[in-house]
Amino acid sequence: MGRTILITGGAGFIGSHVVRLFVSKYPDCRIVNVDKLTYAGNLANLNDVSDRPNYRFVKMDICDFSGISSLLEEERVDGIIHLAAESHVDRSIADPFTFARTNVLGTLTLLEAARRHWSPSGWNPYGNGCLFYHISTDEVYGSLEMTHPEGIDPPFTTEASSAGHKCYGDDFFTESGKYQPHSPYSASKASSDHFVRAFHDTYGMPATVSNCSNNYGPYQFPEKLIPLFINNIRIRRPLPVYGLGENVRDWLYVEDHARAIDLIFHNGRAGETYNIGGCNEWKNIDLIKVLVRTVDRLLGRPESADMDLITFVSDRPGHDARYAIDSSKIRAELGWEPSLQFEEGIEKTVRWYLDNQGWLDGVTSGDYMKYYDSMYGHRG
Ligand code: NAD
Ligand code: DAU
Repeated sequence: MGRTILITGGAGFIGSHVVRLFVSKYPDCRIVNVDKLTYAGNLANLNDVSDRPNYRFVKMDICDFSGISSLLEEERVDGIIHLAAESHVDRSIADPFTFARTNVLGTLTLLEAARRHWSPSGWNPYGNGCLFYHISTDEVYGSLEMTHPEGIDPPFTTEASSAGHKCYGDDFFTESGKYQPHSPYSASKASSDHFVRAFHDTYGMPATVSNCSNNYGPYQFPEKLIPLFINNIRIRRPLPVYGLGENVRDWLYVEDHARAIDLIFHNGRAGETYNIGGCNEWKNIDLIKVLVRTVDRLLGRPESADMDLITFVSDRPGHDARYAIDSSKIRAELGWEPSLQFEEGIEKTVRWYLDNQGWLDGVTSGDYMKYYDSMYGHRG
């Protein structure tokens, strides 16, 4: 048997893609998925791999120090990929404490449990191959200026870049960028990044951080822009566009993020940070129009029939104007790049949600919670 890797947050959106990739690609490794099953955790996201012999699910809060410590010992964990978090900016504005608890204290709890497990006397060199890998966000860098509101040709392209793809400013987030978080969510992620680096610098723990841009794809909770709007177009509900819809995000297909995580975990350098992004900037309003056209076409409705669902609403407080990643480091060092053109990725994503309307209905009705709560106990 190979190594044992603990993946936190594996029942969530990105975590489920990472668990699926690792369980399938590394049959000799044991994959232990620790997830508290908050509203965002859904074991149905993992139905296709949950019976594999190299997979184990443990319902546990990452803030539970003794539970995590016992599990690290029992499973002889030598690698941790930490994705568990509260992840939605709007929820962080309504309830910042939950974000500080899970994202800051939860990360610190995992770090301290891992330190004592891997280096019990406090000064031992860490065993070969152990690694704490923290999955973080580009939002820690704050907001970039929109110096080109009409869009210009981007300096960064990949083979998968779409024809006619634009960018909206001169600056990009780099690994050496200053931390300037604006929302309680990004402040909590920034704090957790600092703790991970502090454990590397202070205790010598092999640790890596990656900061990624907006992900999209199957199994994303329909509170985030893309699945929320696909669902609303499907059932003809209003599409609440914050402000003028001019904010820019850099979108990446979730499986490309999972591939980057695999590369960084296995080949990245401990102590380093890697930025991951799609080279794929979109103004929200332009992206929303693509979603309306795609959903209407795939449902056989007259093209753009549902454009009038677009409804401009009050802006998100502290709404960051533009995110755009310079991912040249991971591309040069690890040979990663996005594999899907955005048009393909969006088509694939919309098709997935329309082919899996049962999943969407289960999540939006709350039924997914009843089934797993009956197996694992009620959600905290
Ligand atoms: P998600 O909300 O879909 O999933 C989070 C998972 O963490 C859920 O399964 C939830 O049950 C679990 N969880 C929450 N609190 C927990 C706790 N206290 N103990 C154990 N488990 C807990 O999130 P996501 O979008 O998949 O994001 C995963 C990670 O990637 C997060 O750390 C997020 O900050 C980061 N990230 C997300 C994006 C994005 O676009 N979604 C981009 C960059 C980075
Ligand atoms: O950049 C990475 C981050 O991307 C991750 O760290 C976060 O976990 C993830 O949630 C995401 O954050 P955003 O706030 O960018 O994603 P969200 O889908 O909430 O919003 C995308 C854009 O769409 C943003 O500019 C706000 C806007 N929006 C969002 C919603 C939910 C709307 O206009 N209306 C909406 O109803």
